[in-house]
Amino acid sequence: MKQTLAQTGKELPLYEQVARDVRGLIEQGTFRAGDRLPSIRQLSQRFSVSINTIMQAYTLLEDQRLVEARPQSGYYVRSRVPEIRGPVFKSKDFLAPTTVTISNVCHQVMCNMMNKALLPLGSAIPHIKNLPVDKLNRIMASEVRRLGEQSVSYQMPPGYERLRVQIARRALVAGISSGPDDILVTSGCVEAVSLALRATCRAGDTIAVESPFYFNFMQMIADLGLKALEIPATPREGISIEALRYAIEQDKISACLVITNFSNPLGSLMPDERKRELVELLASHDIPLIEDDIYGDLTFGNERPTAAKSFDRSDLVIYCSSFSKTIAPGYRVGWAIGGRFQGEMERLKMMMNIATASPSQLAIAEFLANGGYDHHLRSIRKIHARNISQMADAVSRYFPAGTCMTHPSGGFILWVEMPVGTDAMLLYHRALEQGISIVPGPLFSLSNKYGNHIRLSAAQWDERIEQGIESLGRLAHELLPG
Ligand SMILES: Cc1ncc(COP(=O)(O)O)c(C=O)c1O
Repeated sequence: MKQTLAQTGKELPLYEQVARDVRGLIEQGTFRAGDRLPSIRQLSQRFSVSINTIMQAYTLLEDQRLVEARPQSGYYVRSRVPEIRGPVFKSKDFLAPTTVTISNVCHQVMCNMMNKALLPLGSAIPHIKNLPVDKLNRIMASEVRRLGEQSVSYQMPPGYERLRVQIARRALVAGISSGPDDILVTSGCVEAVSLALRATCRAGDTIAVESPFYFNFMQMIADLGLKALEIPATPREGISIEALRYAIEQDKISACLVITNFSNPLGSLMPDERKRELVELLASHDIPLIEDDIYGDLTFGNERPTAAKSFDRSDLVIYCSSFSKTIAPGYRVGWAIGGRFQGEMERLKMMMNIATASPSQLAIAEFLANGGYDHHLRSIRKIHARNISQMADAVSRYFPAGTCMTHPSGGFILWVEMPVGTDAMLLYHRALEQGISIVPGPLFSLSNKYGNHIRLSAAQWDERIEQGIESLGRLAHELLPG
């Protein structure tokens, strides 16, 4: 139905009238933090004004920090909680490689994730309701019946060919041209990254990682006897290319490990131009890039973001991913596109565990070919976008004033920065006493950073989760310094 602009604003330019009306809808709660606003075309039809006018109106609302544009997706209501901007790197900032020492808490946090008695507010595991459980298990049963012997034999590296064909087709969506022979099936993304680290580094080497960074990889780096060099990252742009360039000039770096799309925990989506710069910078120093793109399919927009691998002209990028965040974490199916390290990674894989389990390779190949993967993705993207916005809204209601958080445009993780002095480790322990599990910020660094940060997961949203956020907020208030 057509809508006319409210009368009171006659004296205002048209775009300001539109902006005022949209602002009104936000203030009334018709659109809440994280909600997608009507498209430019829809608004132009609704208000009978030009596309240009609507674009000006949205630009004005963006300037007023009420809405935000998400690439290839549209305009969204900004959260009332301020967005974390991240550090600005200055070359005098000291960057030093560190040996990792966070093992015990990491292990405890991983165990918490499996503890059904705890409310899972921290774990980056997709909610079971958002996985195609029945369909996948039906497919598994019929594929195992159909392929009899193949299902019980080793699918030796590089892995089941039909699966590799499907993965190569899907890689095109991320801008990667590859053939089935370029792909190595692995037991999850973690194994792909582990093989990549082994193929590119030796004990004692330094590996550059973004900071904050996924704690499990920090631990893996330690277990391999490597040192991690933490490079600052921001939620908008990901790893700082300037800081990385500076670090490369100061230190010998053997590889760089980055989560390019909707990183863990920052949720940052590196713009294409930054991905290109990253790949070119590393190539110019002959340093391999290990790219983890496990969250790339979980964009809230319509188009999947590209991979840094798509800019790789030197075969120096090792692309790693899996189906753990989208279809079935327990199937343990991931893959790597190893470029010039492919042969060595295959050899290492065989030495480590011979092959990835066959039934899950057969099932995922069939699911990708005929199971409606794209349809499934569209549905979980919507659910995650809504969950993120509801969780962000709850954090803004229950956490102390001065709390900031990320505004991710994909994935299902929120990174929350509480007022300085709020002890995230203490919050973690107090929350556990109340049956709530979160991931404390210090795990994401080796150098005592993020002491007032926590990672939350919006993999699910319901009344219990909201109550959990309320309790967490209460605890955070109690822990406010002074
Ligand atoms: C960035 C990142 N990579 C890898 C993984 C684990 O992948 P997989 O279960 O496929 O081994 C996770 C899980 O949290 C993750 O966040």
